[in-house]
Amino acid sequence: MGKSTATGFSLMETHKIKWNNMKRPVLRTKLCDLLGIEYPILSAGMGPSLVGERTSAPAELVVAVSEAGGLGVLGAAGYTIDEMREAIREIKKQTDKPFGVDILLPSQTVANGDLVIEGAHEIPLREVLKTLPEAHYNWMMKIKEEMRLPDIDVMIKLGTSLTRPHAAIKVCIEEKVPLFCSGLGNPGFMVADAHAAGMKVLGISGNTRNARRIAQSGADLVVAQGHEGGGHTGRIGSMALWPQAVDAAAPTPVLAAGGIGDGRGVAAALAVGCVGVWVGTRFLASVESGALEIQKEAILKATDEDTRRTYIYTGKTSRATYNRFHDLWETSGLDPLPFPTQILLASGIVEMFTKANKAQYVGPFAGQISGLIKEVKPAAEILMDMVTQAVDILTTTLMENVVAKT
Ligand SMILES: Cc1cc2nc3c(=O)[nH]c(=O)nc-3n(C[C@H](O)[C@H](O)[C@H](O)COP(=O)(O)O)c2cc1C
Repeated sequence: MGKSTATGFSLMETHKIKWNNMKRPVLRTKLCDLLGIEYPILSAGMGPSLVGERTSAPAELVVAVSEAGGLGVLGAAGYTIDEMREAIREIKKQTDKPFGVDILLPSQTVANGDLVIEGAHEIPLREVLKTLPEAHYNWMMKIKEEMRLPDIDVMIKLGTSLTRPHAAIKVCIEEKVPLFCSGLGNPGFMVADAHAAGMKVLGISGNTRNARRIAQSGADLVVAQGHEGGGHTGRIGSMALWPQAVDAAAPTPVLAAGGIGDGRGVAAALAVGCVGVWVGTRFLASVESGALEIQKEAILKATDEDTRRTYIYTGKTSRATYNRFHDLWETSGLDPLPFPTQILLASGIVEMFTKANKAQYVGPFAGQISGLIKEVKPAAEILMDMVTQAVDILTTTLMENVVAKT
């Protein structure tokens, strides 16, 4: 796994050895006891941004984060049921530490039940695109022609965790995944079964109403993700959301997400009462993430101003690195299609741009914290840097800079 170094060890092994030989800093909250981990830092379960892309949080990233003392979460949203089981088994082969699996559970998809697949399990995206509203399809073809873009070759897998959520949950329960995470929707309906298998359940929310709802439905943990976060995101900024979510979900513990890129973000989250952090964009720019090089580059180049919250990728609001596809869409005069249909359109267009190497038209889901990220690093190093800086703030810097007495 990973690249070999001059010593013959993989990058991940080198970091493990380096950190194991040093005195490890201590940073613990009750989350560590709940999940059986050393540090209260989770790498977010980031699926692929679009159809045909690799998952952003593959097994390599999960193993690296869990081995380093945090908890890695597999981004399983784009996996078929078999691929998901394989990835879970791969993780178990590589680490005996706790880990998580994240899928999306939009309420309508859950209520509709799993898609029944008869015949082919994959179909060419370019054929499916022909079934979209004529105006959208014609606009895409016009762009293809005018910009001389290549053909769309990607295949759509029909039986993913998104279209077969109940089958995906069954696999997680059979495999006794230590932490089940639901990206969209409320996982309450599966909590009892998960608990019976000895698992913990986490739900993600972007406002206090959903934080309360998820907590009341029996989940063990709630993530409160602020507006500045990458991927699907709500309207409330992190600093306003975190303490309100802590109050709304109490006594269920809350993890902070949205805009955490280093130990300062970790210390701030702990100070407002969160028990830990759920970090996406910073781990997307890691050696082990599944993002394409072109996407990692886009994050490194981005400033704090360079992401946009838009409907154009999925039909729901999501935050991505700003790029010229956003401008192109503005001039189209089209309304985005409802979730998840818009994903098909965006996937077709972005695949053409990526294949044509038109980097200025490509940007991954990413958060406003991109501006802080200057280097792609091994995940273990990202995690340990966060821990070291947070410990320094909480034990030393804060006391030096702030006078507070009762
Ligand atoms: C590339 C990317 C893909 C994502 N995919 C998912 C997903 O499949 N499921 C999910 O629950 N959250 C997903 N998210 C959101 C993250 O889980 C997390 O909440 C967010 O990244 C936190 O904000 P940050 O990016 O500022 O750290 C994604 C985020 C990114 C950047």
